[in-house]
Parts: sequence; structure tokens; C-alpha cells
Amino acid sequence: MEVVIRPDAEDAGRTVAGIIHHAILEGSKTLGLATGSSPLGVYQDLARRHRQEGLSFSGVDAFLLDEYVGLPPSHPQSYSQVIRRELVDHINLDPTRVHAPHGTASDPQQEARRFEHALAAAGPVGVQLLGIGVNGHIGFNEPGSSLASRTRLKTLTDDTRRDNARFFGGLEEVPRHVITQGLATIGEASHLVLIATGPHKAHAVAATVEGPVSAQCPASILQLHPHATVVVDELAAARLEQQPYYRHIASHKPPGQGY
Ligand code: GLP
Repeated sequence: MEVVIRPDAEDAGRTVAGIIHHAILEGSKTLGLATGSSPLGVYQDLARRHRQEGLSFSGVDAFLLDEYVGLPPSHPQSYSQVIRRELVDHINLDPTRVHAPHGTASDPQQEARRFEHALAAAGPVGVQLLGIGVNGHIGFNEPGSSLASRTRLKTLTDDTRRDNARFFGGLEEVPRHVITQGLATIGEASHLVLIATGPHKAHAVAATVEGPVSAQCPASILQLHPHATVVVDELAAARLEQQPYYRHIASHKPPGQGY
């Protein structure tokens, strides 16, 4: 796993956008997208690269990590709608190529299986972008999720519902259930790129990078992946014990491998 420490959130976002840009230039055609506030700087910089540097998403398929059960795609807080507003509307990614679980499917379990199959048919995902919850969740795989899990129906913890209430009119409006890619599903992407910024993420980042691989910190599966990059700002890096080593690595990259 590589840890990249950037001065601030904006710089971290630009770094991750650069990784995605490079993957697309190399011919990657399947992209894994995440929601939440962490990737917003990434999406802004991808839009800028599209406008100013000719980065094209033509022919790219994008798969979302998760979706709230019960929210139609037209709901402003459905992840389909969030990704449309924050990214797709600003680049040339064909909206019909953006794939998310359907939150209003009559049988969510069946919908989870359908999504898993669609992903397997189009995959593997090239770069999978990830945020992280303060409890170490990725996608909506809460602590205790099986490390071997596949896309499925999950129940949110009250902590996660409280964290996400800021996007809704109040806690009672936050759905209790979600469909999320499983940890093993996520692990099939060729390159996992996690972005975390701000002091509230420092504990989860330390557990992910330097703690044991454990279902209690779902993001710790990155340690099992052959190509995982964790991009953090100084605040989110604050609890990492091996910071000097990560900085040393970053300043001694082989030619052509820097960020
Ligand atoms: C939600 C999403 C996750 C995201 C997390 C953190 O729970 N399902 O994919 O990583 O929020 O959100 P934020 O980036 O806003 O802190």
C-alpha cells in the first residue's frame, strides 16, 4: 500500500484526479465512483481537466459503490443523483453508462445480485475511488462486514445515519437500508484509491493503514490488495506512526512514478 500525504484537501483531490486521468489515458474503460464529501475535490478537478486539458470520458463505464434503499434515482440525495450533479453533468461521461443499484427495486436482494453480475460482466474496474467513514467503512460496509462480502442489502449503523443526516432534512429522513458493493467486490478493482481529509478521519486512516486487517475496520482490506493508494491531507495523516517513511518514499520515487 502506498500512502501519499498532501498539504491540504484540495491538493489531495488533485492528486487523485491525476491518478484517474492517467488511468484513462492508459486505456482504462471502467471507473469506480464514490459519493460523500471526500471525493468532491476529485470530481471538481476531473471536470477542470475535461474542460482545460481535453480529458475525455467517452466510452467509459462508471459503477457506483452503493445506493440508499427506498430513494428513487430522482431523489436529490440518491447516490445516482449526487454523482450526476457532482460529476456527470460536468464531463462527457454518457449518463446511460453510469451504473448504480436501483434503490426502489421491489426486491433489493435480487437487485444487489443483478448489480454484482453487471459489474462482473463489465469489469474489472480500473481505478476504484473510495472515501472512508469515521468508523472505517467503505461503500456502506459497516464494521463487522465480511471481508468476503459481495453486493448485498445492508442496515446502516445509527452513527453513519447521524453522519449522513447533514445531507437530508434530518435524521429521520436518512434511509436505514442500503445496497452496497461488498468488500470482496471492491477488492476486484485493479487499483484502489482511498481519499481521506480532515482531522475527523485521522483515527480511521490509522486503523486502515497501520492497524490489523479486520472486519472491525472494513477499509483495512486495502492492506490485502496488490495495488492500493491512500491519499490524505496532513490532518487525516496525523495519527499515522510511519509518516516519516511515507514522506521518504514520496520524495524518492523512481523516475516517472511520482504523483
Ligand atoms: C457514505 C458513503 C461512503 C463514504 C462515506 C464518508 O457513507 N457511502 O462511500 O466514504 O459516506 O463520507 P464523507 O466523505 O462525506 O465523509
